[in-house]
Amino acid sequence: MKKIIILSIAIGILSLASFAAPKFKKMRKFPPNDDIEKKIDSLLALMTLEEKVGQMVQYNGFWDVTGPSPKGGNAEKKYEHLRKGWVGSMLTVRGTEEVRAVQKIVTEESRLGIPLIIGFDVIHGYKTLSPIPLAEAASWDLEAIKKSAEVAAAEAAASGINWTFAPMVDISRDPRWGRVMEGAGEDPYLGSKIAKARVTGFQGNDLSNPLTVAACAKHFAGYGFAEAGREYNKADIGTVTLHNMVLPPFKASAEAGARTFMTGFNELNGIPVTGNDYLLRDILKKEWGFDGFVISDWASIEEMLTWGYTKDRASTAVRAAEAGVDMDMEGNIYMEELANMVRTGKVKEEIVDEAVRRILRVKFELGLFEDPYKYCDPEREKEVIGNPEHIEAVKDMAKKSIVLLKNENNLLPLKKKEQTIALIGPLADENNSPLGSWRLGSDDSTGVSLKTGLEKYSNNKIEYTQGVKLITNQAEFTKELHINTTDTSGFEEAKEVAKNADVVIMALGEHGFLSGEGRSRTKLDLPGLQQELLEEVYKVNKNVVLVLQNGRPLTINWAEKNIPAIVEAWQLGSQSGNAIAEVLYGDYNPSGKLPMTFPRSVGQIPIYYNHKRTGRPVDPAPGEEQVFWSHYIDEENAPLYPFGFGLSYTEFAYKNLQLAKKEIKKNETLKLSVEVSNTGNYDGREVVQLYIRDLYGSIIRPVKELKGFELIPLKKGETKTVTFELGPKELGFYNEQGNYLVEPGEFQVFIGGSSETSLEDSFFMVE
Ligand code: NOJ
Repeated sequence: MKKIIILSIAIGILSLASFAAPKFKKMRKFPPNDDIEKKIDSLLALMTLEEKVGQMVQYNGFWDVTGPSPKGGNAEKKYEHLRKGWVGSMLTVRGTEEVRAVQKIVTEESRLGIPLIIGFDVIHGYKTLSPIPLAEAASWDLEAIKKSAEVAAAEAAASGINWTFAPMVDISRDPRWGRVMEGAGEDPYLGSKIAKARVTGFQGNDLSNPLTVAACAKHFAGYGFAEAGREYNKADIGTVTLHNMVLPPFKASAEAGARTFMTGFNELNGIPVTGNDYLLRDILKKEWGFDGFVISDWASIEEMLTWGYTKDRASTAVRAAEAGVDMDMEGNIYMEELANMVRTGKVKEEIVDEAVRRILRVKFELGLFEDPYKYCDPEREKEVIGNPEHIEAVKDMAKKSIVLLKNENNLLPLKKKEQTIALIGPLADENNSPLGSWRLGSDDSTGVSLKTGLEKYSNNKIEYTQGVKLITNQAEFTKELHINTTDTSGFEEAKEVAKNADVVIMALGEHGFLSGEGRSRTKLDLPGLQQELLEEVYKVNKNVVLVLQNGRPLTINWAEKNIPAIVEAWQLGSQSGNAIAEVLYGDYNPSGKLPMTFPRSVGQIPIYYNHKRTGRPVDPAPGEEQVFWSHYIDEENAPLYPFGFGLSYTEFAYKNLQLAKKEIKKNETLKLSVEVSNTGNYDGREVVQLYIRDLYGSIIRPVKELKGFELIPLKKGETKTVTFELGPKELGFYNEQGNYLVEPGEFQVFIGGSSETSLEDSFFMVE
């Protein structure tokens, strides 16, 4: 504590005239704080070059959790650097006791006692887990998503953590890429709204509140466009797509006040994003006025060397620092090279000073200088983690994330009594898989399985059998995709159980560890013998409800054609089974809508709703032979399920689309309204979606673009009028120079319950 007092006095006395406040955009959430800037000036004046570079260094905890440590996790060296004050941050240290221990080393043993900022991957919850982020996105419920981030932040912060490496706001059109589970899907508009909800949920209004954490928008930018969906692959993205599709959720995160950004493992158009001045300096720091700090991804500075972008370690460190990477995650490259490069004049000390300023700013905002142990209260840790209110919140989020894909003859909801239900499948009695693969702070096998959830409805009889085995042997995990591929010995029993049941629930999909980082797939079908099992069971009982649990869109064409009811239940986190059971029994009427297109075939990928039209879009009339139009000869162009699609137990009717005007001026806003009625037999919630099409322009525009949505509860028989506004923000676009244009012309509008909407009209925009 002694060091902190000396430091505080020094900061109080010193005040340097050289302080120049950075420019801030009006919309910034955390306004500039002159007091903090003066303290940073004072502190910088006290620091040696090594101490400054040290602030730019992040070390992993003393074990390897998320990837190979470039230096093999050299604990002794790390301890020594902590004592010297040469480390600014640590990741994956967690729990009040551990965090207190590392903070104690730096604050009491190092010369200046500057506290660490403790980072952690809090992706969809810390101990109490929410659904995977892609699933949450399917709720389109911004309040619930924000709440889920608040819960995650509270538990993480109570465990000593100051900063989460979330949200991942990478747009992706490729379900082969395993990390689609971690994002909000394919659409920049929905992705931006969700990014904002998550950032504000994590950070709240006051970063120094010990129940909030700093957010990190990642991976800046283009990682979701990895070629062929292969993890860590290059990304070629044209300017128009970059500005209109990839960058908007990052911009929304910056506007919502995200205090940190992370670069990615990818290169973008030939330049690694970790060495990309255009992205980091020109766009993020200058154009968007971002005044937090940028961290590399795990050793991604060093990987610039492996890509063949830089020639040696020293020039690699310079490249990253000059491009605007303020902190090196577990790469050791700043630690080993940067001070020397400054001394030999290869990089300006001002670059280091600027990075340190940004890092210290966030540490001040978190309140770490007031009290480095602020987040280390073991009593609070006990009270907050696993709190019943959190369990309720993640269950609520889980129910809202479920998407009903098919429900022929109203097979769902299930009857609550006198039913025999056959529950079959490798994921039926699983309490680990629903937690997903990205849950470092949580304990294994702590989810509620579907079987447990269903058994709470005790007036029905549940007959369970696995049918196909789940592989639990770690060594065979990946090779076999976690599901048995050869052993059909469970089929007979499955058929026997199914034969005598009123309804069969098939719990199939992907194991939680089949998506996430490093888990790209070339096939998107049901892994292992699941498809065969499904077909066998269907032969003896047609009343099948397929409950899918998976981390990405799947090609389930046979099921869509044959199985009467299909429920997309993703990986829903700690309360998974309870949430699915409530939906199956109709205690919650499903309201989710797909945030990502489901393809019919892997060959259609990338497939997304906001595509361009092509010069040969003609869809020939049935029976007419046509070859020379944009299509496949062996598959339809249309997806299996479109973006925004999702059913309900009730029905919604759309009518009376009204446009306030048929012509607006360039800077005007058009008001629109539509009537939505619940015409079915249940109360429900509907996501009313508004799309536009700019019919012609100086660059070709997509056939449809989401530009508004509203989630409304509607009681049985109720009608509501929903209103939207379209102004320059919605009607413009970025051109190939990256300039935002609003161009007069003709626009179509579409409103309905999915991207295949029911109502349509048009208007003109004039100068
Ligand atoms: C690598 C991942 O790409 C990134 O998203 C994550 O935050 C870091 N590892 C830290 O675990």
